[in-house]
Amino acid sequence: MGDTGNYAVIDPATGKLDRRIFSDQAIYDEEMEKIFGRAWLMIGHESLVPGTDDFFHTYMGEDPVILTRDGGGRLHALLNMCRHRGNRVVRCDDGNAKRFMCTYHGWTYRNDGALEYVPGEAQAYYDALDKPSLGLIEARVETYAGIVFATWAEDAPSLEAYLGDARWYLDTVFNRRDGGMQALGPMKWLEPVNWKTLVDNCSDNYHVPTSHLSSARVQTRFLGRPPLSHEDQFASPNRHAFVNGHSLTFRDADDGVPRFVHGMSKETMQLFQEYHEATMPEVEQRLGTLRARRVQLANHSIFPNGILGLRLALPRGPLKTEFWHFVLVERDAPDELKRAIRIGSQANNGAAGMFEQDDVDNWRQVSLASTSRLGRRHPQDLSMGLGHAGPHPDYPGLVSERYISENNQRLFYRRWEEFMNAESWAQIPLDPITAHLDGTTTLRG
Ligand code: FES
Ligand SMILES: [Fe+2]
Repeated sequence: MGDTGNYAVIDPATGKLDRRIFSDQAIYDEEMEKIFGRAWLMIGHESLVPGTDDFFHTYMGEDPVILTRDGGGRLHALLNMCRHRGNRVVRCDDGNAKRFMCTYHGWTYRNDGALEYVPGEAQAYYDALDKPSLGLIEARVETYAGIVFATWAEDAPSLEAYLGDARWYLDTVFNRRDGGMQALGPMKWLEPVNWKTLVDNCSDNYHVPTSHLSSARVQTRFLGRPPLSHEDQFASPNRHAFVNGHSLTFRDADDGVPRFVHGMSKETMQLFQEYHEATMPEVEQRLGTLRARRVQLANHSIFPNGILGLRLALPRGPLKTEFWHFVLVERDAPDELKRAIRIGSQANNGAAGMFEQDDVDNWRQVSLASTSRLGRRHPQDLSMGLGHAGPHPDYPGLVSERYISENNQRLFYRRWEEFMNAESWAQIPLDPITAHLDGTTTLRG
């Protein structure tokens, strides 16, 4: 690893990864500036602020942010910091308000961020306060299929360019229905893990038959789900792809079988099957035939820290991450189906999720390994599948030959280096958009 501003943590020839990036406070502080200070960050979903004057309290990295919908319906991401002394102007999780009054001295902001009222403006400030320059600090906001992203960087590319060809895959989950999606939750909890361990894990299917063996057996026995084995994983036609820092895994889906989501069981299968068949014409019109009938996004991450559908993985220090887990459901799906997905999702992922608990234990150990004086002298080995990925005629991005590969992990840490070593967005490379987004979907839904 080089000096600050000259990171070389992953060796592309060997896949060796410097462990210090998981526990070093100085590196973490620089990540907050160079990654979380300028990437497009997932901050919420439009369905969390459906009406005018609704707000939802969220975070960008460690910075508290209020997602608001103003009286004209426009979204804003506002730093929750009064411009006077810095008090928070919102102290609750969500609500509906035209204005936010700071409870220290009473400065009052509109929900578009403008500073509207200051006690004693004439008497105490002699009408000399420059109110227009003292609105709440505002980030850029854009949405993709209802998911709200924000960035502090004025020189960041558009969200469309940032997501790039990853949308080709993301659409197969987030952009299927005309009615869009609805976010339920969040469930929140803290874990003693570095934020990168879970992003890394989102393209790691290698661990599944080992780490999740007992959870999978429970699913096979009680839900009728197929058993897991290494042999099936190694023979799987599924793939990994990497675009612009986004790690994607996807299934070569069977046309006639419902798309896998949590909540499928012997009891609910018919419900999922009927929904799949009833909605396929609409999905095909929206996504085109190949994506509608043959492709399903599976585990993935949106750089830097958007994972598992809509989950905010909020860094809280090198060895602490706060999870906000939402369940996304298609708004026009039958209530019975939504209920099955919600219960199934929480049984697998979430604070008490069976699979989640298997995973968190791994992430915790991996994070802690980097605090060992001796252990950190020895790099991680991410050499699996080196030299076995490249362009593919049907699938955009850099595609691995096999489902089980560490190509996405190597490229994720390279993307991390690109952000950490760049002085500005002009130095961060972006893949050109080349994928054919067949069908009628757009960035906005
Ligand atoms: S800190 Fe907000 S009004 Fe003084
Ligand atoms: Fe897992």
